[in-house]
Amino acid sequence: MGITVQPQGAVGAEVGGVDLNHLDPATLAELREAHAQYGVLFFRDQQLTPEAHIALAEHWGEININRFFTPVENYPQIAEVRKEPDQQFNIGGGWHTDHSYDQIPALGSLLYAKEVPTTGGDTLFASCGVAFDTLSEGIKDMLRSLRALHSSRHVFGQSAALPDDVTGLFANADQATQDAVHPVVIRHPLSGREILYVNPGFTTHFEGWSVQESAPLLQFLYGHIARPEHTCRFHWQPGSLAFWDNRATWHLAVNDYHGHRRLMHRITVEGVPLAAAR
Ligand code: SIN
Repeated sequence: MGITVQPQGAVGAEVGGVDLNHLDPATLAELREAHAQYGVLFFRDQQLTPEAHIALAEHWGEININRFFTPVENYPQIAEVRKEPDQQFNIGGGWHTDHSYDQIPALGSLLYAKEVPTTGGDTLFASCGVAFDTLSEGIKDMLRSLRALHSSRHVFGQSAALPDDVTGLFANADQATQDAVHPVVIRHPLSGREILYVNPGFTTHFEGWSVQESAPLLQFLYGHIARPEHTCRFHWQPGSLAFWDNRATWHLAVNDYHGHRRLMHRITVEGVPLAAAR
């Protein structure tokens, strides 16, 4: 019996009938195609050891060792995404796409739920491909001619405005020196789709424009990408896994579960250079 793939609206698909510990070549091929098509795949009731999680990620490429997140003990390949009952801050609580500050941004991440609150703690995803498709031809043409700067400095660096209760969540602020310029509209390396590639987390301004000049257009694009009809919401259970594509989606971890623990394991896979759509 093959896998089932249930689309979740504009972005994402829930995949059934698969044990991620045992993937044959035919199933892997189906998952690769679904990942490129839907931007994020959701799996339920998976029993993954850290070794199995690493082996699963390696089907998609080399693992990116995260510079800034605390690793799981003895597993530098796995970043811990943790919020304790006495913490207010959560990792990834604003719309973003990971690693856009790198010259070669990561392909995506496989986030595995270890411990989740009984209510809340969902993750939202947005489709940057559908968002581009639904713009007018006039603005699409203008955006195709632009490039934008992305940086890690204001998020993970010494000057990042982080609250006091993030102790132990992040490391290596002195290594937050990454800046990159990418086309504002990229051609997705697998699907060939045109994708709007800016995000509120890491994009600072358009190349050749000041920060102030860039802000109104960036704000318009951010509001457009985050329109409800471009998004889906994933409710986690222990053993759930989401595998998103950083080139095609944004995500946001909803911070609505103060007083409860949420513990996730995240593995990120390296990507390829991004090319302009035209
Ligand atoms: C992240 O932004 O990588 C974390 C997402 C989540 O915890 O749901």
